[in-house]
Amino acid sequence: MEQENNLEEIHPEEIERNQEPPAKEPARQYYFMEKCRRAVKKEEQRLGRRMTFHTETFGCQMNARDSEKLAGILEAAGLEASDSEQADFVIYNTCTVRENANNRVYGRLGYLHSLKKKNPAMRIALCGCMMQEPGVVEKLKKSYRFVNLIFGTHNLYRFAELLARSLETDGMVVEVWEGTDQIVEDLPAQRKYPFKSGVNIMFGCNNFCSYCIVPYVRGREKSREPQDILQEIKRLAMDGVVEVMLLGQNVNSYGKTLAHPMTFAQLLQEVEKIDGIRRIRFMTSHPKDLSDELIDVMCASKKICRHLHLPLQSGSSRILKAMNRHYSQTQYLELVEKIRGSMPDLALTTDLIVGFPGETEEDFQETLRVVKTVGFDSAYTFIYSRRTGTPAASMEGQVEASVVKDRFDRLLKTVQELSAAKAGRLTGSIQTVLVESVNDQDPALVTGKLDNHATVHLPGAKELVGRLVQVRLEECRGFYYYGTIADDALQT
Ligand code: SAH
Ligand code: SF4
Ligand code: F3S
Repeated sequence: MEQENNLEEIHPEEIERNQEPPAKEPARQYYFMEKCRRAVKKEEQRLGRRMTFHTETFGCQMNARDSEKLAGILEAAGLEASDSEQADFVIYNTCTVRENANNRVYGRLGYLHSLKKKNPAMRIALCGCMMQEPGVVEKLKKSYRFVNLIFGTHNLYRFAELLARSLETDGMVVEVWEGTDQIVEDLPAQRKYPFKSGVNIMFGCNNFCSYCIVPYVRGREKSREPQDILQEIKRLAMDGVVEVMLLGQNVNSYGKTLAHPMTFAQLLQEVEKIDGIRRIRFMTSHPKDLSDELIDVMCASKKICRHLHLPLQSGSSRILKAMNRHYSQTQYLELVEKIRGSMPDLALTTDLIVGFPGETEEDFQETLRVVKTVGFDSAYTFIYSRRTGTPAASMEGQVEASVVKDRFDRLLKTVQELSAAKAGRLTGSIQTVLVESVNDQDPALVTGKLDNHATVHLPGAKELVGRLVQVRLEECRGFYYYGTIADDALQT
């Protein structure tokens, strides 16, 4: 783990002098980090050992980045990271995009309770999207009294303060906000990988796709100021990061609400200029907002990866309309054609939902048709999940589970066959691989990613991790390549 942002803003002596915490952020949170640090030291003396923490992410890449921020605060508070849930402070960063993500959390909480019974010093915290859903906090307060701390998505930046409060009491500390228009910069984060990092460029979502709960739990779309984003990336680059993933629910609408509006394509051009950054990725692109300017910038770029995640959701124009996606089947196909016309080697991936209310076999056939026409490199397939409070939840024609399951199986089979057919197309060529880890199963191998996000295994040792190397792709095995280093001249 790599600590981002130094902690020079903490002035321990100030805490003595100033009884009152500073009102301004992020100074206020640095004050509370110091306060936590003292409480942790005391607790460690009582326990006669180090205090450990464990973070668990249940959701998307943004959720994962939030967990790195939580870990940054916990390290700043003096706790030691642990891979195991048998830790003194366990925090679940929850997701509620589909019901099963939600159920997993309740399931795992029972297990955490059993751990807490064995370790009375243990504290359990819950945060993230699920906490923003009506009724969840009430349920936790009623039936999960052993949880120590609960907060939501809008006040994550106040984690140090909430942690300090929680460390002072055995009771349950709860703070969930309806929303915020504040973005607090310059708090610590603890990166999972030293060589790559997610970077939030915006928060929230304004699209209100009719099935989706994200706009309700993440609030309105807010873009970060470009200079804050660029500064963060420059700092990451100085710290050894070579790949950044720009994160937002709909990156294509970046910058529209800024005082000095800027397009996503313009932001990308600025990121491109940062020395040390070798690869730029982004996620997610909404098809309705993907501009010609973005395609031009991608084409001209040496750093933007040849990969686009472009969620289709459904191939039926009728269903797309009911989903409030603002594009038709034809518009999606035309967009793909335009992109491929400019970048034939680009990998395209997507998200698909089966069983949206009112979906008929004909609608489903349209989805299959688009999937076959486009030939995605890979696709995430989801069974529609009814989310309370979204417009789709009260739509007529909820599809019967057995019908959905049958469609889902057929879609998955088609998706897998098509991506298998695509998978080997780079065999025989030499490509750049960012080596990410030593292989789990075989320590003589390392595993990395191509620019198009395909996985490559190659002989090598841990010294290669974090480096960009030229690899000859010898063969394709299922969904990954096996390769060897093309020459001794490593790129980085
Ligand atoms: N902002 C991104 C998606 C975020 S959620 C975008 O618009 O592309 C990730 C994926 O979860 C979505 O693309 C969608 O396919 C799926 N999803 C969202 N809500 C869902 C629901 N109620 N049921 C099933 N899948 C859902
Ligand atoms: Fe949900 Fe649509 Fe926003 Fe994506 S764009 S987060 S699917 S509402
Ligand atoms: Fe889940 Fe929240 Fe992401 S609901 S998908 S963690 S924005």
